[in-house]
Amino acid sequence: MRLPGLGGWHEDPVWSYVYPWLVEHERIGGPAWRAGTGSDLALMRETAAEIGTLPRGARVLDVPAGSGVALRGLRPGQGIDYVAADISATMLARTRAAATRLGVTDQVTTALADVGALPFADASFDLVVSLTGLHCFPDPRRAIGEMVRVLAPGAALTGSSLFTDTGPRYEPLRWVGTRAGILGPMCSTAEAVTWLRESGCRDVDLTLHGGVGYFHATKAATQDES
Ligand SMILES: C[S@@+](CC[C@H](N)C(=O)[O-])C[C@H]1O[C@@H](n2cnc3c(N)ncnc32)[C@H](O)[C@@H]1O
Repeated sequence: MRLPGLGGWHEDPVWSYVYPWLVEHERIGGPAWRAGTGSDLALMRETAAEIGTLPRGARVLDVPAGSGVALRGLRPGQGIDYVAADISATMLARTRAAATRLGVTDQVTTALADVGALPFADASFDLVVSLTGLHCFPDPRRAIGEMVRVLAPGAALTGSSLFTDTGPRYEPLRWVGTRAGILGPMCSTAEAVTWLRESGCRDVDLTLHGGVGYFHATKAATQDES
């Protein structure tokens, strides 16, 4: 059954306005996010903050860029090459608007791309950020494989997602999101950890906070290490 009125990602859904508004208006957004997901918006900001630690000349991939929430981790004048990728042209237009608002347009380029077949060379990024994306992708295993493929050896993949094994409290959220076309098949935390490892990551960390899991994994520097 498909729930009417909410819209999938290709229709610029209502949720794509609500979520960035919540992130920008944390006094209201914080409690609302906590009520809905059991997690804390600050953790998303902390995840994006890793972008701000990168040296001049570093290359970052943000996928899915969506409305540009992760751009908050990028500092004006930081001098990095920030590629914002998403399957939706409408969402990328919203990323560009966010980049303008935040004064970082000189560092940001956008790319219309499917995470399942990223149009980037192997080992070409120093950080891949994927905020609230894995649960939307049609094939999360393939998405993880692609995001790790484009990472340079020793570089990190960081992000957040809903998972299937976070208990009955979040079942209504998953049910509505899936029926609305906003959520994909999703995966369990154990599957995500296994797929990160089999893609060549070590130091895999996945920590649940309420219904949201935050992951951080480093691509092995050599084949022997993976
Ligand atoms: C919940 S939003 C998150 C976006 C962003 N990271 C944020 O936090 O605002 C999910 C995004 O995934 C994108 N998306 C869905 N399937 C995709 C795919 N196969 N490849 C790339 N992006 C995809 C949607 O267009 C949407 O912008």
